[in-house]
Amino acid sequence: MSRVVVCGSLNMDVVVQSACRPAPGETILGAEVSFLPGGKGLNQAIASARLGMPTAMVGAVGNDAFANSLRGFLADNDVDSTGVTEIDGPATGVALIQVAEGDNSITVASGANMHFDASMLPDEPRRDEVWVAQFETPLVATQEILARAHAAGARTVLNLAPFIEHPPEMLQAVDVAVLNEIELSQATGSRLDASSSTDEVAAACNVLRERGARAVIATLGARGAIVVTATGVESIPAFQTQVVDTTGAGDCFVGALASQLAAGRTPAEAARFASAAASCSVERLGAAPAMPTGEEVAARLAKA
Ligand code: ATP
Ligand code: RIB
Repeated sequence: MSRVVVCGSLNMDVVVQSACRPAPGETILGAEVSFLPGGKGLNQAIASARLGMPTAMVGAVGNDAFANSLRGFLADNDVDSTGVTEIDGPATGVALIQVAEGDNSITVASGANMHFDASMLPDEPRRDEVWVAQFETPLVATQEILARAHAAGARTVLNLAPFIEHPPEMLQAVDVAVLNEIELSQATGSRLDASSSTDEVAAACNVLRERGARAVIATLGARGAIVVTATGVESIPAFQTQVVDTTGAGDCFVGALASQLAAGRTPAEAARFASAAASCSVERLGAAPAMPTGEEVAARLAKA
C-alpha cells in the first residue's frame, strides 16, 4: 500500500483574531486567542491523512507541553509520528498568527524545527511512497532526504515555502515542485503578480523545470493553480468558497496533492482535487484543524 511521508515543521500556532492590526507602538484590546496545531509539515500531513491516505510525519519538537499536544493531534488524525524526534533544549516551534482585516501575518519561532536532521528518519524511503518537504526545516536535511527518496525510486514533492535561497540542482530530485506566485517570483527572478497571464506564470514554472523538477505547480489563491509538465500547461480552477481564514490553504493543497499522487493520479488530476480540498480548508479558522475530509472534498467536486 502506498503512503505519504511528510518531513518538515511542527508548530503550535498562537492565532490572534482582531478587528484591525495595531500600528507600531500601539496596543489594542478586544482580540481572541486560539492555540491550534500548525507548521507547514504537520498541516500537510494532516491534510493527507484526513483524505484517507496512510501518512507519516518526520520532524523535531522540544521537550514541552506543546510537543505533547502536537503528538496527540497527529495520533487523533491517524498520522504515524514515530519519526517525530524530541530534542532537549530548544522549544517546540511556535507561530504567532494575526488574523485581521481578512488577511493574516505570521511570525515563526522555529525552535526545535531547526535542529531536525536527516539522521532522524526512522525508515529509508521506499519506491511506493510519496515524500514531501518544505523550507521550514534545515535546507541541508531537506536536500539529503529528497536525494535519498529520489534514489530509492519514491516520488518527491517539494513545497518551496517559505522561500529560501537553495542550490538549483536540488530540483533534480523533485518530481513535483509547488509554490505560490510570490515564491515563484523569488525562485526565478520573474516579476509576477495578480495580473500576470497564464503564459507568464507558465514561463516561470518552466525555469524550474529546466533546473530538473519534472512538474511545477503554481498556486494562485482565489485564481486556482497552473500545472506545467512535459506534456504542457493546464489551468486548474479555484472552487467557490466562503473565506474565513486562508492560513494553511497552500499546505492543504500540498498535502491533498501528495495523497492523490500516492493514489496514482497525474499531477493535473491531483491538483484539481487539491484545489477543491484547499477551497474547503479556507472556510474554517486555523491551519491543521481546518483540513477537510474526503467526503467534504467529494461534495465540493460534485457541486462544481
Ligand atoms: P497560505 O500561505 O495562506 O497557506 P499559499 O499562498 O501558499 O497559502 P494560495 O495560492 O493562496 O497558497 O492557495 C492555495 C490554493 O488554495 C489555491 O491554489 C486554491 O486552490 C485554494 N484557494 C486559496 N484561496 C482561495 C479562495 N479564496 N477561493 C478558492 N480557493 C482558494
Ligand atoms: O502555512 C501555514 C503555517 O505556516 C502555519 O501553520 C504556521 O505554523 C506557519 O508555519
